[in-house]
Amino acid sequence: MLLKTITRKGTLLLQGLYHHTRHQRLVPGVTLVATASIFSWFVVTNLQPRIQDQPPNSPVHTSPEKSTQHSDRLNHSCFSSTMPHTNNKMREDALYGMFIGDSLSMPVHWYYDTDNIKRDFNGWLTGFEAPRKRHPTSILTISAVGGAGRSTFSGKQKSVIGDIILHGKLQYWTKNDRSVHYHQGMAAGDNTLNNHCALRAAIQASKDPDASYDAVLSSIMTDYVHFMTTPNTHNDTYAESYHREFFKSWDKNGSPTQPEEVMSYVEKRVKDLENKHLDHNIDGIGALVHPIPLIIQYADKPVDEAAKQAVKLTRMTHASVNLDPFVDVYARTLHGILNGESLREKINEALTSPPIGNVRLPKLFEEYSKKARKYEKGSEKRLEIYQSAVSQMGLACYIKGSMVSMFFLAYEFHDDFEGGMLANTNCGGENCNRGSALGALLGAEAARIGKTIPERFKSGLNILKPGIQSVVDKW
Ligand SMILES: *[C@@H]1O[C@H](CO)[C@@H](O)[C@H](O)[C@H]1NC(C)=O
Ligand SMILES: *[C@@H]1O[C@H](CO)[C@@H](O)[C@H](O)[C@H]1NC(C)=O
Repeated sequence: MLLKTITRKGTLLLQGLYHHTRHQRLVPGVTLVATASIFSWFVVTNLQPRIQDQPPNSPVHTSPEKSTQHSDRLNHSCFSSTMPHTNNKMREDALYGMFIGDSLSMPVHWYYDTDNIKRDFNGWLTGFEAPRKRHPTSILTISAVGGAGRSTFSGKQKSVIGDIILHGKLQYWTKNDRSVHYHQGMAAGDNTLNNHCALRAAIQASKDPDASYDAVLSSIMTDYVHFMTTPNTHNDTYAESYHREFFKSWDKNGSPTQPEEVMSYVEKRVKDLENKHLDHNIDGIGALVHPIPLIIQYADKPVDEAAKQAVKLTRMTHASVNLDPFVDVYARTLHGILNGESLREKINEALTSPPIGNVRLPKLFEEYSKKARKYEKGSEKRLEIYQSAVSQMGLACYIKGSMVSMFFLAYEFHDDFEGGMLANTNCGGENCNRGSALGALLGAEAARIGKTIPERFKSGLNILKPGIQSVVDKW
């Protein structure tokens, strides 16, 4: 027991350290690799015995749902004729789900030690909250204001933060204070910057149902440039590395604002960076957020097309080929549910195929699930199992681990939107972007199985609510 606690804390600490050192680049690559290796060792030594505990041929899971799905599959004509096509209820709950997942977590975004959540909010979060004045483990003030990663700001060169995007926010990035909250000043129910961008994308994508795929991408990118470079369009203080890099080079390329110029800049950048990796901080789970509305909008298009457009958009914003397979697998998962496939089936597919490709994960998920079921639903003991699962699978932003954690929560809470959203928040770490990706899946699945998402979550959304509803009303 003691050993387990030590190991859990050790993993947590190392993951925090891993995140920090990678963000700060305070230590040379060798140390990073060493940190990563120790971390992997912790994960492996933690997971191995549990995996081996399983009888060799034990079924991954035996839900009744699986057997009906299976016979559907056998009867192909039945499967295709009775499979519900996407409907607007599924789309609506998927869209609301993403914003709810982000907003619930916003006040405790990047809380790496979950004890701090309980301390700062006098208990676990159960609904929307405003952030507290101080963040216990913020690294905002050592993040680069001129591009990705860590600060090298000299005060002489133009700063991306403040001069080009996030007007008026540079003061918070350069404060001599390590407790500035990434979303300081925001209200309960507000959404973080990536979600603002996603809603803008949703509005552009739903504007004209007959627009070509390329026209939609062009209007999303032009609008993104306009939104990010106009003061007072949002109140967030933090912008991920990908925004900073995009606008650093946008500025160097003549600050284009007209659709043709924006697209020629974007396409040139995509080409230039096809064989060059900008920065590891680009490859986070936040990459899934911007394309989610596009996947939802294209739920009635072939899955290959929906996935292709989602990948294309991510290339335009992030310019990282590493992200392609992750965005692709996520798009196929969400699109599948929106077309009547079971969330749990899609998760098993996603886990065991590239880029995650780990055939042991379904068993591991079931193991954690079994442990959690020993405690009452909604209990602190049960939450602790989820916190330990997420901290072992991936608590930080780096996409692979983070996506595994996200899929674990989706698997576990496949029929419990509210439970899944709150567990995600109270697991801490990169819960905002993980929460958006999770919220869309759980929202779509809720509607697919005839449930709905709680009204209090929809009505509790603040500044973005009218915009979200305007998109829903378009469908
Ligand atoms: C397949 O499904 C159709 C439509 O529901 C049904 O009429 C048919 O009997 C099924 N065939 C088999 C082999 O189950
Ligand atoms: C920003 O915050 C101000 C003050 O709380 C509020 O009035 C305004 O609506 C917010 N704007 C956005 C875009 O969130």
